[in-house]
Amino acid sequence: MKNNVHIFKTPEELANKFAGQLMNWMEAHSGDEFHLAISGGKTPDLLFSVLAEKYNDSVLWEKVHFWWVDERMVPATHPESNFGIANDLLFSKISIPEKNIHRVKGENDPVKEALSYSSQIQEKLPVQIEWPVFDLILLGMGDDGHTASLFPNQMELLASEQICEVATHPASGQKRVTLTGKAINNAKNICFLVTGAGKAERLNEIWNLPDLAQKLPAFYIRNANWYVDEQAAKLIRYRY
Ligand code: 6PG
Repeated sequence: MKNNVHIFKTPEELANKFAGQLMNWMEAHSGDEFHLAISGGKTPDLLFSVLAEKYNDSVLWEKVHFWWVDERMVPATHPESNFGIANDLLFSKISIPEKNIHRVKGENDPVKEALSYSSQIQEKLPVQIEWPVFDLILLGMGDDGHTASLFPNQMELLASEQICEVATHPASGQKRVTLTGKAINNAKNICFLVTGAGKAERLNEIWNLPDLAQKLPAFYIRNANWYVDEQAAKLIRYRY
């Protein structure tokens, strides 16, 4: 599994550097539309705040289309809504056309919404060998090695032939709509943003202990760039 890792002192330094990198990728993108899928959880909050603070008046937002890697099936006003959080921290602070924000409708029936979201993605994104191609997918990783809403007890969703599936959070039972492993792996560029000591064990397994890593959904995301802080990277042993 070919991975690049970029290690930063702190989550703040990571967020600032990654925000600049993201704007550069959007700037360099030759197409009219830059299709970006974002994850939920806490890690992206810092990135959203930096983007809103430093790049709020960028004209680049005109061409960015925001999609979700996964969404909790709750209304957009619910505190756990990934769209709701991104809207508060970012969209409400930048000038981006509403048509560029493609939220998963968390208030809908999960099965119907997974099908509907899959069709929207298939319709709006460029397609390569029948699979949609995101320009960039931002992923996080849970302490249990899940990514998106692909959980260790639902590994079959990695190999699903669907673009989106319904997942169930193993602890809360909350329904999620998630991109599948194949849909994620078909992206042009995949970046993990992972910070905090709680991720160090899993990162070490993914880097150095394949027998353990094979139980972790994040292990099956290929050719990703990992942006991590020193806390998350503290157990990774480098082979120079
Ligand atoms: C979600 C995310 C999920 C997240 C990881 C890491 O909707 O919760 O998509 O996959 O990226 O759980 O979450 P943290 O960033 O909070 O550690």
